[in-house]
Amino acid sequence: MHAIDPLPFTQALPRAQRVVQTCLDAMILPTQDDLSAAMRYAVVGGKALRGFLVLEGARLHGVQIGPASMAALAIECLHAYSLVHDDLPCMDDDDLRRGQPTVHKKWDEATAVLAGDALQTLAFELVNHSDIGTAEVSRRLSYSLAVAAGRGGMVGGQMLDIQAESRSDGHSLAEIEAIQTGKTGALIRWSAMAGAMLGAGETGPLRTYGDALGLAFQIADDVLDVEGDAATVGKAVGKDADAGKATFVSLLGLDEAKRRARQLTLEACDALACYGDDAETLKEAARFVITRSH
Ligand code: IPE
Ligand code: IPE
Ligand code: MG
Ligand code: MG
Ligand code: MG
Repeated sequence: MHAIDPLPFTQALPRAQRVVQTCLDAMILPTQDDLSAAMRYAVVGGKALRGFLVLEGARLHGVQIGPASMAALAIECLHAYSLVHDDLPCMDDDDLRRGQPTVHKKWDEATAVLAGDALQTLAFELVNHSDIGTAEVSRRLSYSLAVAAGRGGMVGGQMLDIQAESRSDGHSLAEIEAIQTGKTGALIRWSAMAGAMLGAGETGPLRTYGDALGLAFQIADDVLDVEGDAATVGKAVGKDADAGKATFVSLLGLDEAKRRARQLTLEACDALACYGDDAETLKEAARFVITRSH
């Protein structure tokens, strides 16, 4: 058993990528079958921000690297599934993800649908793995992950996002917040809280941090769609306005959306007061989320 060492954000994020990769290699052997290959392809190459949040929350709650890695891979699998389906022609219809062809372009639509499905079930397999802790810890993690992923969370938000494309009468701030809180916020909130759940600790401060971080993260994603270039961002840009997406930028404009994102990162950092200096890496992550270029 090993503790999770404190690291500055610039080293902690690549560590999360390595931990996710190592755990993935153990769970899905690099075999030749298309389903396994597509699943592995979908998980690797991202920032692993959600996995990082799991590891940092776990470190603050004295959780060992073994169980924390399982939960980190679980959320990265669930996130990867959401992206594979988000990119499908019937959803956002994207050909590029993380600088590579999307799964349905590299294989085909059926493989993308099924790889997404299997990544989702793998996430639940992982949080119920015997290495993760007691049955009560697994129960809390899997119940909250189901809520975050489903109708009241990511999938519900994706539904609102798609429906918003065909509405021409505009959206209120509350409606846009409901879309973003669901489609992006719910999984980020879970990631932030998972370490406290693994350590059977108080989840409140990390929940508040995760909620503010999730909204700031999606505002930054919407800003990158306007200001970024595809080579750096690793995905097509300039698509949200064309598709009629309801975003913070479409409602508030770039300057006000950025001001709001800065405000949210301050709120996120304030929520961590009870952890003192130990939470410095999570505070750095909040600043990264709104200054990132991809
Ligand atoms: C992109 O998420 C999708 C959104 C929820 C906005 P990330 O920007 O975290 O994607 P990867 O995992 O690093 O590619
Ligand atoms: C996707 O939001 C959120 C989920 C996958 C749940 P976007 O559609 O804005 O994400 P990108 O821009 O394609 O990464
Ligand atoms: Mg989308
Ligand atoms: Mg998309
Ligand atoms: Mg986007």
